[in-house]
Amino acid sequence: MRTEIDILENEILEKYPEVLDILLRDQTTQKNIIWATNNYEYFGESYLESKQIKSELITGINGDVIMPRVQKDQILQQSRVKNMAEVFTPSWICNAQNNLIDNAWFERKDVFNKEIPNEKKWKTNQAKIEFPKNKSWQDYINDKRLEISCGEAPYITSRYDTTTGEFIEIENRIGLLDRKLRIINENVDESNEWLEATKSAYKNIYAYEWQGDSLLLARESMLFTFIENYKSKFEKEPLLKSIQNIAEIISWNVWQMDGLKGVIPFSCGEIKTKTVNLFGEEETDNSFCKGCLNSNIFEHNGTYCLIMDWPNTGLKGKKIRYIDLLQNKHQSINGK
Ligand SMILES: C[S@@+](CC[C@H](N)C(=O)[O-])C[C@H]1O[C@@H](n2cnc3c(N)ncnc32)[C@H](O)[C@@H]1O
Repeated sequence: MRTEIDILENEILEKYPEVLDILLRDQTTQKNIIWATNNYEYFGESYLESKQIKSELITGINGDVIMPRVQKDQILQQSRVKNMAEVFTPSWICNAQNNLIDNAWFERKDVFNKEIPNEKKWKTNQAKIEFPKNKSWQDYINDKRLEISCGEAPYITSRYDTTTGEFIEIENRIGLLDRKLRIINENVDESNEWLEATKSAYKNIYAYEWQGDSLLLARESMLFTFIENYKSKFEKEPLLKSIQNIAEIISWNVWQMDGLKGVIPFSCGEIKTKTVNLFGEEETDNSFCKGCLNSNIFEHNGTYCLIMDWPNTGLKGKKIRYIDLLQNKHQSINGK
């Protein structure tokens, strides 16, 4: 199994046709995700923070442009702390917090592992996980989870410790997605059933992030978590179609958003409308974003982000605005 933590965009491009384009897609705008950081602008105009991340900007001779935070140089790391509060959480803390969720769900402690806090470690429980009387393994897979401002998504999958760069083997992973996949691995042996259950697991994991590079790394990690689990279970590569399906789910569920506004980063702004008055004179009306002026999340004039409410089977769900979940106004925008 590969144990390098930096997933290479060149490798995705060559081995898995169309997958990198899916991972770069912004499902709200139907364009690509944007850089949303000025860290790359010295490469040229296409790397300005408002520009889309195009596959050719990060592959070929540009194949090393995007790398995990732990491999970025110290000065860049510090500037990202200052500008975006980018401090990642060590895996042992992610584990302790994810355990709290499972303690509540299972109504008992130490379900997946036992924490060893003074050594900043954990010991994985090897025995098959038992479920409470009133709950099934399917209930666990279908329970929704969200990592807000996810960075490289260490709470979702712990392929590597985002603070040390240490690679973590599948059986010792502690992420919210890793836990769902462990449950599936323990309960399903037939490959079609495994794939359906795994798609359900991905449909029920959500995350958002501002910075485009971290968002792509989070999406790639989740995709490779799928490939690694499939290979470990069935001792062969998954079909390209299955990889593309999982990438499609990820591109909806792990999205680019300014979490304080519910919109695509930088999409709010001054809107100039030109009208002609009764006397034939042209008038310009400048309207500023009310949401930004009043710090009211419901009044922005930017592009509110769409997410997918998935059906149990299939990939045709209901598109909903994230913002409507905050108002409990769960409405479909495609009329279903
Ligand atoms: C403290 S890091 C946490 C990352 C990850 N959840 C972890 O625990 O390791 C904060 C993350 O929030 C992102 N961020 C900062 N402001 C944001 C905003 N308004 N909306 C969405 N993400 C934001 C940063 O880009 C950064 O990746």
